[in-house]
Amino acid sequence: MPPPSEPEEELHRLAREIAEHDHRYHREARPTISDFAYDQLRMRYEELRQTNLFPTSAVKVGDDRVDRFRKVAHGEPMLSLNNTYGRDELHHFVERVEQAAGGPVEFIVEPKIDGVALAITYHNGSLFHALTRGNGIEGDDVTANVQTVAEIPKKIFLQEGEVRGEIYLAEQDFLALNAEREEAGDEPYANARNLAAGSLKLLDPRQAARRRLRFLAYDIVGAAVSTQWDVLQTLRRLGFPTNDGFLAKFFDEIWRHIEFLNVERTRRAFGTDGAVVKVNDRTLRTTLGAQSSAPRWAIAYKFAPKRATTVLENIQLRVGRTGIVTPVAVLTPVSLAGSLIGSATLHNGDDIARKDLRIGDTVFLEKAGEVIPAVVGVAMERRPVDAVPYVFPANCPACGARLVRIEGEVARRCLNSNCPPQLARRLEHFAAKTAMDIATLGPARIGQLMERGLVRNFTDIYSLDEAVLAQLPGMGPRSAKNLLAAIAASKGQPPWRLLHGLGIPHVGAQTAKLLLHHWHTLHAIAAADEEALRHCDGIGEIVAASIFRFFHDAANLCLLKNLSTLGLTLAEAQSAPQPMSRFFGKSFAITGSFEFMGRDELRRHIEGCGGVVREALSKQVNVLLVGDGPGSKLARAEEFGIEIVDAATLRSWMQDKTHSPQSNTIP
Ligand code: IVH
Repeated sequence: MPPPSEPEEELHRLAREIAEHDHRYHREARPTISDFAYDQLRMRYEELRQTNLFPTSAVKVGDDRVDRFRKVAHGEPMLSLNNTYGRDELHHFVERVEQAAGGPVEFIVEPKIDGVALAITYHNGSLFHALTRGNGIEGDDVTANVQTVAEIPKKIFLQEGEVRGEIYLAEQDFLALNAEREEAGDEPYANARNLAAGSLKLLDPRQAARRRLRFLAYDIVGAAVSTQWDVLQTLRRLGFPTNDGFLAKFFDEIWRHIEFLNVERTRRAFGTDGAVVKVNDRTLRTTLGAQSSAPRWAIAYKFAPKRATTVLENIQLRVGRTGIVTPVAVLTPVSLAGSLIGSATLHNGDDIARKDLRIGDTVFLEKAGEVIPAVVGVAMERRPVDAVPYVFPANCPACGARLVRIEGEVARRCLNSNCPPQLARRLEHFAAKTAMDIATLGPARIGQLMERGLVRNFTDIYSLDEAVLAQLPGMGPRSAKNLLAAIAASKGQPPWRLLHGLGIPHVGAQTAKLLLHHWHTLHAIAAADEEALRHCDGIGEIVAASIFRFFHDAANLCLLKNLSTLGLTLAEAQSAPQPMSRFFGKSFAITGSFEFMGRDELRRHIEGCGGVVREALSKQVNVLLVGDGPGSKLARAEEFGIEIVDAATLRSWMQDKTHSPQSNTIP
C-alpha cells in the first residue's frame, strides 16, 4: 500500500481529534475546547474530505449514550443541524432552499439554546418517557430525572405525541450550583451546558431535582400542525415554555432578526450560542428532506465567540480546602465582552499539557455561551524562542509535600492536611456564613491569626485570649469582645452546621442535614459503617466512602472529642415538643402553592419540626401536601397510597401549638 499523502494524514488526524472531543463533550460533559474551535476542526475536515476523494465518510453526530442507562429507539431519528458562522454561507442556504422549492419561502428564526436535546414522549396524555439524543437513532432513557423538572408538564391535552426541546440551566443557577460544588470540594463545571448534561445523566433523581433544570420546547413530532409558527403556539397551549420565533420572508429580514438575537442574548436567562433558521412550512420540510445527519430545511447560525489576545505572564498554583492544586493563568489584563480579565482557571495539569501552554505565550481568551472566560489556545507564531513546556510541579507550592493523583481524578492533591493554605481555606470554610457563621472571622482575620500562630485548627478558635486579640493591629478591646462573643455563640449552632463546617470532601450543607436527620448526632455518624452510610437516603457511594474515611482517621476522632469538650453542639436538640409535632420524623412532598406561606418558608418550618421535605415523589414520602394548582404528584400519590393533606389541614397542623416547637408564623 502506498504511504498516505499529507492531506490524507491530516484527515485521519482530524478524525481522531474530533472523535476524542466528541467523547469529552457528549459522554463526559467535560469538553476541553470551545464550540468554536471544535466547529473549525469539523469544517477543515469537511473541506479536506470534499476536495480530496478519499474513501472516508462524514464524521458522525456526537453520541451521548453511556452504559448506565436503558437504551430506547427514537420514533423518528433525532438529527443535528448544519452550522455556519458566515453571513454568505447563510445566504447560500436561503438560496438553496428557495431553488429547491421553486419560489420564495417563509423562514422562522429562533434563538439556539445552548443546552442538551431531549425528546419527551406522551402516551394517553401522560409523560411516558424522555430520551437524550444518543446516537440519533436511540437515546438514553432519562425519564426519572426529567420527571423532576418542574417546567415539563407531566400531563398534557394531547393523547399521543412527542415533544422535543432543550434542557438547560439558568445562568444564575449555574453559578450558584458551581459555588456549592466548590464548597463541597467537587470540581466545578466549565459552563452551564455541561452542568445540564451532567445533571440529566445523574443516577439519583433526587440529586437531579436539586439542579433546577429548565426546558424550552421547539418541536412536536407526530401532530398535525402545518407550520413551525403553529408548532410554537401549540406547545405554549399545551403548557410548555417555548422559544420566541420571528417570521421572515427575505434574507435581509432574517439577518435583522439574527442581529437582534445577538444583542438580546445577554439579557436572556439561558445561554444562546446562535440562531436557528428554519423553513416555516412543515410540508415543504418533508419535500426538502435531510442529508446524512442534518436536515436541508434548517441551519444553525452560530455567533462567533468574543475573543481577546493577551500574554500568559505566569501560572500560579492555588491550593484549595481539600488539597486540590489548581493552576491559574496570570494574564496581562485585557477587556473581553465588557469585563477586564486578569486571570483564568486552567482546570488542571492535563489541560495545560494538551494546549501546550507556556509562560510568555500569547494566548487566546474566549467567552462564548460560557460565563467564565477560558484560555483556548496559543498564537504559536508569537511564541518566544526561549519558552519551555510547562511542567506541573511534583510538590506542593506551599508546603513542599509530594502531590498525588488520586485514581480516577485528573486533579493533583496535596495530602498534607497541615499545609498552610489548606488550613486557611478550611478555617475560612468553618467560620463562613453557610457553616458555623462566625461574624467577623473572615479570611483576612484568619490569615492574621494564623500568621501569629494563634490559630492552627478548629479547636484553637475556641481558646483565643481576649487580651491577646485586643492587641492585634486593627482590633482593639471592643472588636476582641465582639469576636469572642460570636465565637462563643457558634457553640450553639445546630450540628449540621458543624458537620458541614468540618469540610469533609463531598459533604455540603444538604448532605450534612440528611446525615443528621438520620443519625441525630455526630458521634453516631462517626460510628456508622460504610454500608449503613450508603443506605442512608440521598447518600451515594463516593460520599459514604468519604465520610467513612474521615471518621476513621484518629486525628479527626480526637478533633471530635475536643469539640465536644469545648461545648459545641454535636447532637440535635431533643427539645421536648419536637416528637409531638405533626411533622416530626416524617417525609413530605409538596405540590401546588399555599396562599399563607411560600414554599421555602414551609420547608424551613417542617425541617425545624424534625421533618424532611423531598423534591420528588417516591415511596419513601409519607405525606403529600397539596396546595392550589397541584401537579402530577397528586395522582401519583393516590396511586402509591400516600397520605394526602390539603391546605386547610396543613394550616391547622401548623397552628396546633401543642404540636409545634415554636410559635408559628401564620398571621
Ligand atoms: S431544531 C433536526 N431549534 O441545537 C434538528 N434545535 O446543533 C432540529 N437547538 O439538535 C432542531 N435550539 O439540540 C432546533 N431553536 C432550536 C434549537 C435547537 C437549540 C439544539 C438542538 C439541535 C442542536 C443542533
